[in-house]
Amino acid sequence: MSTQKLPNDFVWGYATASYQIEGSPDADGRLPSIWDTFSHTAGTTKGGDNGDVATDSYKRWKENVALLKQYGVNAYRFSFSWSRIIPLGGRNDPVNEAGIKHYRALIEELVSNGITPFVTLYHWDLPQGLQDRYGGWLNKEEIVQDYVHYAKLCFTRYGDLVKNWITHNEPWCVSVLGHATGVFAPGHKGNKEHWIVGHNLILAHAYAVKLYRDEFKASQGGRIGITLDLHWQEPWDDSPANVKAAQRGIDFKLGRFADPIYKGYYPETIKSIVGDRLPEFTKEELVVVKGSSDFFGLNTYTTQLVKEGGDSEIQGNVKYTFTRPDGTQLGTQAHVPWLQTYAPGFRSLLNYLWKTYNMPIYVTENGFPVKDEHILPLEQVVHDTDRIEYYDRYLNALLQAATEDGVPVKSYFAWSLLDNFEWADGYEPRFGVTHVDYKTQKRTPKESVEVVKRWFTEHIASS
Ligand code: NOJ
Repeated sequence: MSTQKLPNDFVWGYATASYQIEGSPDADGRLPSIWDTFSHTAGTTKGGDNGDVATDSYKRWKENVALLKQYGVNAYRFSFSWSRIIPLGGRNDPVNEAGIKHYRALIEELVSNGITPFVTLYHWDLPQGLQDRYGGWLNKEEIVQDYVHYAKLCFTRYGDLVKNWITHNEPWCVSVLGHATGVFAPGHKGNKEHWIVGHNLILAHAYAVKLYRDEFKASQGGRIGITLDLHWQEPWDDSPANVKAAQRGIDFKLGRFADPIYKGYYPETIKSIVGDRLPEFTKEELVVVKGSSDFFGLNTYTTQLVKEGGDSEIQGNVKYTFTRPDGTQLGTQAHVPWLQTYAPGFRSLLNYLWKTYNMPIYVTENGFPVKDEHILPLEQVVHDTDRIEYYDRYLNALLQAATEDGVPVKSYFAWSLLDNFEWADGYEPRFGVTHVDYKTQKRTPKESVEVVKRWFTEHIASS
């Protein structure tokens, strides 16, 4: 075992998101979000599942905090449901004090238990009112102002206790899955809208950060940034075409957000393929966009082997596989088809991000849904060997990146605290370190809980 350690201020814990865990869609003045509407539309989610009950965490939030405490974490990442705070969503719409009170109570409970809150302002559940009124993320003038207004309200009401803000979670999913392939809310399809939505998400993020820096940062002393997602893209072999394809894959998934935000421009590879379907920033906007994140927030789960070719413009005309040239698989297969365990890719990714963007990195999600957990008996589920293998390897890869390679990794949030509503895949994939019996809402810790806890106890330097 390596004797090297992470610094004593290393942040670790578990992550969740409002729509995936809360349930209680009508409670205390909440109005529908686009995910309520979408998941209640026939044919959108596996088995017709929706977030009406989920893990019942709007009611059981104290139980969740007790689990976090028991699991030994020092931080918890969760998101606000915009529709609980401003039910219709807009800057001239009523504010819902009951919704504000709910998150205030949760935050106070965390802080009084020594758990640092990391709050995501937007994890995909846009108030349906804004979708109906003006098309949601497609309408630049409206959505940027409404998002900034919502963010300001959150900074004002919670900023005394919340010092870590994440503007958006995985804007790629909102753009591409929501507006190109249509498998996520609001379910639009096409090859143009998603570039507009992506552009508007960047602007909303950047103007919220500007507001935070101008009006709150000095007095509240927090940090604010965005969380992007990328699975490491490893060339399938060392042929120049596949090496180039891997970079193009990165540009289309991550660079489309990271390059404007950290460098101030869209990648050339994208401009040359997308042409005038890609919106442009004005000079004034660029000043606000460039440098608009205090850190690099990263969600990552796996590595993809990349080959040149294919005609999917959305993914930069590259093809993905888990099968190596010698016919072997990259790693242990998860319940979802897009995930295999391959920790060296995590180390490569951390190095790439540090080298390319030069920012401290907050890993805000990483995790593994064990194959068939939804049908296995509980005695077997809690014995989650494949998840334990995953965490063990990914955590050691993180440690190597941080200590041997000198990458400034500041946090690690495992996804997820609990099994929960996995969007279009419904309740079948189970990412939690806690098993949830959806009939009784009984929570049962899986063995990975202790493995992760022990790993951090052994690998964070004592002060
Ligand atoms: C990314 C998303 O942020 C989260 O909502 C989702 O459940 C996990 N990855 C697993 O797919």
